[in-house]
Parts: sequence; C-alpha cells; structure tokens
Amino acid sequence: MNQIRLKTGEELTVRRAREEDARRVIDYINLVAGETDYLSFGENEFEVTEERERELIKRFQQSENSFMLLAELNDTIAGLLTLECGNRPRLMHRGEFGLTVSRVFWGKGIGRVLIEEMLSLAKASDVTRIGLQVRIDNERAIKLYSDLGFRVEGRLKRFMRIRGEYFDFLQMGIDL
Ligand SMILES: CC(C)(COP(=O)(O)OP(=O)(O)OC[C@H]1O[C@@H](n2cnc3c(N)ncnc32)[C@H](O)[C@@H]1OP(=O)(O)O)[C@@H](O)C(=O)NCCC(=O)NCCS
Repeated sequence: MNQIRLKTGEELTVRRAREEDARRVIDYINLVAGETDYLSFGENEFEVTEERERELIKRFQQSENSFMLLAELNDTIAGLLTLECGNRPRLMHRGEFGLTVSRVFWGKGIGRVLIEEMLSLAKASDVTRIGLQVRIDNERAIKLYSDLGFRVEGRLKRFMRIRGEYFDFLQMGIDL
C-alpha cells in the first residue's frame, strides 16, 4: 500500500484490490462506464456478479505478474488500473493495461500515479513490455501515456463501434 501526496495536497492511497472490494469495484466500473465513451463498455453494460468479481480479484492477487490497483481518496475509489500479462512462458514478459479515473477526480494526477505504480510493480515482476489501445480522439489519455514514455506503434481501424459509429484506436507501447 502506498500513500501519495497529490499536487492538490490530498492524500491518495494506492493498493492492490482485495476480494472484499468486489462490490465497490463493480459500482465504480458502472459509474465510469457512463462517464465517457472511451471504454469497451458503456453505461449498464458491465454485468458482472459480485461472486465473479471476487474470483477475478483473487486471480489477480495470486498472479505473479498481473494485478488490479485501486486509487482511493477518503475511502472512495477514484481510479482503477489492471495490468494483465500472459501466463505462458513465452508471453509472461508482456502485459496490457486498462485505466480509468472517475470524472470528478480528473486532472489531479491520479492517472499518472497509477501508471507510475504499475511500471514499478511490472519491472519488479520481470515484465518488459506493456501495451495498450486508446481511442484516437482521447487526447487526455494519449498525452498522459506519451508523457510517461509510451509510443504510438500503429493504428487499429474500426476498433470500436458505438451506436453505429466506428472509431479507430492507437496501439501504444513501452519497453521496460
Ligand atoms: C485518461 C484518464 C485515465 C486520465 O486520468 P487523470 O487522473 O485525469 O490524469 P492525470 O491528471 O494524471 O493527467 C492528465 C493529463 O492530461 C492533460 N490534459 C487534460 N486535458 C487534456 C486535453 N484535452 N488534451 C490533452 N491533455 C489534456 C492534463 O493536463 C494532465 O497532464 P499534466 O500531468 O501534464 O498536467 C482519465 O481521464 C479517464 O479515466 N478517462 C476516461 C476513461 C479513459 O479514457 N481511460 C483510458 C482508456 S485507454
């Protein structure tokens, strides 16, 4: 568990998710799902039972190279990051991450803190390559990833379809 002082002066707690967080994690994901159209699920499209979420968190806890990180401000989940790496020997060095910060908490540096924490945990687990896909018009996320050393590696056409409209994504990545 890490306590980090944000540029706003607030104290952020960053820690791995525990099984007992399952309900709050589901509620958090349903909240952020309705806040933007940058994610692979929209409002009310994240249908996971508490039991399933508990299992998922347990799997992350038991994994050597994958994890779910929560960022909390005053006991409220403000951000969530998951890094998922391969299980097979040839793929274990490689991970993909997903990141959200709830809209009311944007701009405080929480996204940056979560990625920095992920990078240091990944290095300690011998993960040497991290990739992600980001919607091409998600300027805030692209700026954040670029600032932290991720580079654009390709353009993924028609990666997502939302209400009939197609969106291209960028493939970004970093070698550690
Ligand atoms: C992308 C996201 C995770 C960023 O989280 P955050 O906590 O607001 O990020 P930070 O505060 O650490 O940094 C955001 C940076 O973007 C910059 N920024 C803000 N608005 C911007 C804009 N319109 N264009 C470009 N950069 C912008 C900020 O200035 C900040 O940079 P700085 O650290 O140099 O000041 C958050 O906006 C989010 O969850 N969005 C919805 C879900 C999403 O898009 N997830 C990513 C999917 S790939």
